[in-house]
Amino acid sequence: MSSILVTGGAGFIGSHTCVELIESGYEVVVVDNLSNSSEESLKRVEKITGKPVKFYQADIADEAAMNQILEENDIFAVIHFAGLKAVGESVQKPLEYYTNNIAGTLSMCKVLRAHHVKNIIFSSSATVYGDPAEIPITEKCPKGQCTNPYGWTKSMLEQILTDIQFADPEWNVILLRYFNPIGAHKSGLIGEEPNGIPNNLMPYITKVAVGKLPQVNVFGNDYPTPDGTGVRDYIHVVDLAQGHVKALEKIKENPGLKIYNLGTGKGYSVLEIIENFKEASGVDIPYVITERRAGDIAECYADASLAKEELGWTARFGIREMCADSWNWQKNNPNGYSK
Ligand code: NAD
Ligand code: WQD
Repeated sequence: MSSILVTGGAGFIGSHTCVELIESGYEVVVVDNLSNSSEESLKRVEKITGKPVKFYQADIADEAAMNQILEENDIFAVIHFAGLKAVGESVQKPLEYYTNNIAGTLSMCKVLRAHHVKNIIFSSSATVYGDPAEIPITEKCPKGQCTNPYGWTKSMLEQILTDIQFADPEWNVILLRYFNPIGAHKSGLIGEEPNGIPNNLMPYITKVAVGKLPQVNVFGNDYPTPDGTGVRDYIHVVDLAQGHVKALEKIKENPGLKIYNLGTGKGYSVLEIIENFKEASGVDIPYVITERRAGDIAECYADASLAKEELGWTARFGIREMCADSWNWQKNNPNGYSK
């Protein structure tokens, strides 16, 4: 039976996707250089599913290692999560971000082509819309100006994969544009583990909840939104993971190039997230209003109807469950995967 190669499979979204793939009957092979993750996440995936996960610790840019993986396994498709993703760090280290994300993917695609593996599902982001021209955002909304090198790597990789598919229609490329993934697996065994002080809202809130940070800084309350704070489309990571299983079913139809938003279609403000988290966890979350964060936009939420029509996928979990599951993970693993 052929397998699915999951690059970056030890990471936050990758580990949850491995669980959903295995539970849907797929065999997975993971390649990850562990630059932002721990092998323990895959041990936990094995614990949840009761199935072994074949793991290669390697960089996607390492052609010899990637060749070996493709020789040793019969790969049907690649789900490509591997990449660096910290927005602020990408502004400080553009060369590292462009090299890791873009050069790494180019190198990997050459190896895939040499092995006639031409089905790829790519982790893109709503960040490619820049300050979106329309809300809710449909896939027809033009791509915009990204505000940081990380965002540009996503935008450029979308173009690169589009061009590869155009030149050789044997390729099937599905670009999945994620909105804001939060939450964790119900078991509380896997979840998000950012290094250092979190940049993203939900991991910051959970760190405040466990007492590791004093308060949440709310980045501005003068946006043109109902309460003045930024509005985003938060999506449960398990829903997101299931979106990949649906995309894999789609890729079997040889669809060529496809682009889907994966979001819930509903926006929540920063203050609404804090309120929902408090109610879901029973823990008070002190906060202060601070300056806007450079590069932030007021509002961003999806029109997710195309994924519903063409993939038969919709997000099932609401904001309360997302908050409860983020909390369940953090409270059971206050130090993440380290003991
Ligand atoms: P993550 O950092 O938890 O996972 C990425 C994984 O890729 C890590 O395990 C890391 O060790 C690995 N990796 C990085 N560079 C690699 C390389 N060169 N070779 C091999 N492995 C490498 O991040 P995540 O939140 O799970 O995100 C997964 C993907 O989804 C990323 O591409 C990210 O940009 C994209 N994405 C994430 C979000 C989000 O908010 N989390 C939103 C939109 C898109
Ligand atoms: C959400 C809201 C902040 C932290 C980022 C990337 C995007 C994608 C998802 C990877 C905003 C506010 C945040 C805090 C706050 N990532 N906030 N205090 O910026 O929508 O998207 O993650 O692909 O590319 O840009 O997510 O969680 O950082 O912010 O007030 O400490 O919370 O201003 O309104 P964002 P986020």
